[in-house]
Amino acid sequence: MIIRRAITADAESVSRLIEQFAVDALMLRRSPDSVRLAIDDYVVAVALTGEIVGCGALKEYSPSVAEVAAIAVSPAAQGQGTGTAIVHAIEGLATKRGIYEVFALTLKPGFFSSMGYHRVDRARFPEKIRRDCLGCARRFACNEICFARSLPSRLAA
Ligand SMILES: CC(C)(COP(=O)(O)OP(=O)(O)OC[C@H]1O[C@@H](n2cnc3c(N)ncnc32)[C@H](O)[C@@H]1OP(=O)(O)O)[C@@H](O)C(=O)NCCC(=O)NCCS
Repeated sequence: MIIRRAITADAESVSRLIEQFAVDALMLRRSPDSVRLAIDDYVVAVALTGEIVGCGALKEYSPSVAEVAAIAVSPAAQGQGTGTAIVHAIEGLATKRGIYEVFALTLKPGFFSSMGYHRVDRARFPEKIRRDCLGCARRFACNEICFARSLPSRLAA
């Protein structure tokens, strides 16, 4: 298994991977085109067979704050550290871009707390609320929990 930055040719597979969870409303749907347009923000996990078995993306909201988004690991590859490796790769990308705080809105709090994320009020990220939450059909019944983490570059600053 390797974790690498996504390339345009991965967009269909990434969209398909996410779709298996989107049908159960566990994730937001991402069309191949929307993945392609943001391909520089995606990382993928690739099995030895060449199959894409995991993905995730960094979604920037300001020069210093970004969301860890679109994390998915195919059912057969879960529970082996792939999700954690993807989040770490996204954090690495964030650090390279000078971002020092990342957050996630998730239905899987145990996954993020296992990586040192802390539960916070989403009001701390008004850019996210303005850009996505206000237009969301589930904004009054949202059950996602907000988790955040400062990145090492910020801690060292
Ligand atoms: C959530 C998900 C990405 C985790 O991927 P994974 O490869 O199985 O995760 P890891 O193997 O790296 O697990 C890391 C830790 O998180 C915990 N964890 C994983 N999935 C969890 C879940 N659903 N609920 C609670 N804890 C979870 C594991 O127990 C593990 O802790 P440990 O190291 O103490 O054993 C994967 O289950 C998935 O794709 N789920 C469906 C899509 C989804 O819900 N995506 C949104 C996530 S925000």
